Amino acid sequence: MHREDFTMLENDIVYFDNGATTLKPKCVIDSMVKYYSEYTSNIHRGDYDAAIKTNKLYDDTRNVVSRFINSDSDEVIFTSGTTMSINMVVFGYMEKVLNEGDEVLLTKSEHASNVLPWIKLSEKKGIVIKYMELDNNYALTVESVRKNITDKTKVISIAHVTNVIGDVRDIESIGKICKENDIYFCVDGAQSVPHMKVDFKNSNIDFLSFSGHKMCGPTGVGCLIVKKKYLNSMEPLCYGGGMNNFFEGDNSYELKKGVTKFEAGTPPIAEVIGLREAILYLEKIGIENIHKHEVELKKYLVSKLKNISNIKLYNETSNSGILAFNIDGVFAQDSSIYLNNYNIYVRAGNHCTKMLKDEIGIKNTVRVSMYLYNNKNDIDRLVEVLEKSDDIFKIVI
Ligand code: ALA
Repeated sequence: MHREDFTMLENDIVYFDNGATTLKPKCVIDSMVKYYSEYTSNIHRGDYDAAIKTNKLYDDTRNVVSRFINSDSDEVIFTSGTTMSINMVVFGYMEKVLNEGDEVLLTKSEHASNVLPWIKLSEKKGIVIKYMELDNNYALTVESVRKNITDKTKVISIAHVTNVIGDVRDIESIGKICKENDIYFCVDGAQSVPHMKVDFKNSNIDFLSFSGHKMCGPTGVGCLIVKKKYLNSMEPLCYGGGMNNFFEGDNSYELKKGVTKFEAGTPPIAEVIGLREAILYLEKIGIENIHKHEVELKKYLVSKLKNISNIKLYNETSNSGILAFNIDGVFAQDSSIYLNNYNIYVRAGNHCTKMLKDEIGIKNTVRVSMYLYNNKNDIDRLVEVLEKSDDIFKIVI
């Protein structure tokens, strides 16, 4: 779909590394160039025309984001991306409200960004991290969530879609369970918000994190969506201009209320404008259409790869555009270098999901992660190259 919008695809590449970052359509790039070339100005500080225009676009982006994920616009904080968003949740809020012995439920297929902050918090506060069991397809089931909850469980923090297995967690049901049991529900939406409908309100999510660059937007910007009732007690990790009402020589000060409290200093203005354009672009295509397209492509890819005897698949059943595999006896990085010779871009390694090896029994995989502009021709090119891999690697190894 819409391949003509992506200049990078003019270079005859097959881009299958969308879990890491996506390509940017011309409209997103143009919106940022326009800001830099026609109305560069800071926000919330100037009274001249360019600044007024910038303010308007920056502030309107909160409306666009909230419409996209069904939150209120005054629940949208701009951050540098998912990693920063999760760190803000853990150290700006959870550090205050959690106590020694409180349990946080994660899984071993979480990304580093949703594990390391919690590990650090366990060092600081003595919270207990528990890893919920995955099923035979390495997916998290609602039953597993239920089984792991005790009266000490205070937080469930999980990816909506994991970045290697690509399993789609039933966040509506898990959100309901969290609500019934008075558990904070933190969702890492980095691999879901760009690909499928995410409903912040109806999933009972307390904190939702995602990144702009994985959804056709620029790097350096993302969002943290926070249920309004937590905003007052949540503390910023960064202090400075734009987030205070006053400060005095006697060290008294007052911070702004609401989401602005978390956006100290000059924010990534061009990036927020680019993110706005990216969301408008995705809305035009329809996020449900994108998901459907990716799932269809994955089915096609799986059906082709299953015919190649030296390919091992790890997650053929997950309902997303992500497929992890290995060529028998070949180190994943070697496979990706091999594919690069044919202009096929994939990611290989542990994908920042370093505990997944305990579940799938291998450290490194090759990952194909698809997006709206991939098509069956991309897959045919990959399959053709993988079909000859056995012969080629037999010579090399
Ligand atoms: N989190 C990104 C990935 O999965 C970088 O590739």
